[in-house]
Amino acid sequence: MGKRKRTTAATATTTTSSDLPLLPQKKHYRQRAHANPFSDHSLQYPIAPHAIDWSVHYPAFSGTGKAPEFADVGCGFGGLLIALAPIFPDTLMLGMEIRVQVSQYVQDRIAALRVTGQADDPDSTSYQNVSIVRANAMKFLPNYFSKNSLSALFFLFPDPHFKSRKHKARIISPTLLAEYAYVLRPGGIVYTITDVKDLHDWMRVHLSAFPLFEPVDEETLRSEGKGPIIDAVYTSTEEGKKVERNGGEKWLACFRRIECH
Ligand SMILES: C[S@@+](CC[C@H](N)C(=O)[O-])C[C@H]1O[C@@H](n2cnc3c(N)ncnc32)[C@H](O)[C@@H]1O
Repeated sequence: MGKRKRTTAATATTTTSSDLPLLPQKKHYRQRAHANPFSDHSLQYPIAPHAIDWSVHYPAFSGTGKAPEFADVGCGFGGLLIALAPIFPDTLMLGMEIRVQVSQYVQDRIAALRVTGQADDPDSTSYQNVSIVRANAMKFLPNYFSKNSLSALFFLFPDPHFKSRKHKARIISPTLLAEYAYVLRPGGIVYTITDVKDLHDWMRVHLSAFPLFEPVDEETLRSEGKGPIIDAVYTSTEEGKKVERNGGEKWLACFRRIECH
């Protein structure tokens, strides 16, 4: 059998004759399904949010003083960010993804979408409001987001870590909830969804028990105008689409960050 030629992320986006990058293809960014959140990935990370130059991520917003308001933790291939970008064009959104190739794919996807948007309409600011960092959100979330800066925090189809001895690796865990409450502003929403009922129950129990979060149901969020967000949470991500293809169930649980007294 002949050797298969490996494609690197750098060569995975082709260009057209007019030199516009085409959308990257996932098959060129293959990686193991899981990354250990406790291992040292030699990640680079900012010392604090104030040390981040957001204009590098969102050049069209430079000079506005804006920082990300939506964070998609474990964003995978970026489906939620891409779905929400045109719905909230003035809101900056950041995906956090620990896997190298997957975060590279999202970066290339956003870069390509920005260029094609500009080509269609030179005044377009399409996808200028989304970006991605390769980061271990379980270790470095407060290095990226300052206190009360986020209005939405997404945990969509997080890794389930089924075995009890692995539960400590779950991204919603009692030890991390204080960090999530810290970066969310009062009124901000934590959105969780999974196809694993046991994980849904785990996330619901822990988030409900934390004094700075209260459960909020889907109807209430829709009545507050957050329907497009809920729809994207259900349907936009690659993992969510896979669940749909396999006829699986999806369990949504949302929580509001309440004021501390
Ligand atoms: C099952 S996938 C879901 C991806 C995406 N949210 C979706 O719905 O398609 C979980 C993702 O979380 C990422 N992840 C796991 N632990 C992480 C961590 N500590 N920090 C950042 N990303 C993490 C994984 O690499 C993986 O891409």
